[in-house]
Amino acid sequence: MLKKLDHIGIAVADLAETIAKYRNITGKEAAEKERIEEQKVSTAFFSIGETRLELLQGTQSDSPIAKFVARQGEGVHHLCFEVTDLRAEKKKMAQCGLRFIENIPETGAGGSKVAFIHPKSTGGVLIELVEYPDGSDA
Ligand code: CO
Repeated sequence: MLKKLDHIGIAVADLAETIAKYRNITGKEAAEKERIEEQKVSTAFFSIGETRLELLQGTQSDSPIAKFVARQGEGVHHLCFEVTDLRAEKKKMAQCGLRFIENIPETGAGGSKVAFIHPKSTGGVLIELVEYPDGSDA
């Protein structure tokens, strides 16, 4: 079962520049910044209530985020829902015929485990599922 909308991922060309924009939009500082080598991204989070915005910049030209920005420009990239048991959720969804993006490392920000449902299975939206190591992002 999905627990909640954890974050909305936004692909950007210049993380520092976009952090400045979202500082103005949210009136807050970026909560966490992290470079995830396995995913070839640098990220920054802004918390708004229970949900966060995840700004993502590709760290290499062959990064999926860099390719996304090159292909269709900056903008909303994915929705992420928190789950309690990623493996069980993936299995259940796969049995329903949902396709996952393969060849993506399971390691997400903050030691979390992640998986991505292919946009072709969801009506055009890339959906990330995240399981936090302590069962909570609090
Ligand atoms: Co995400």
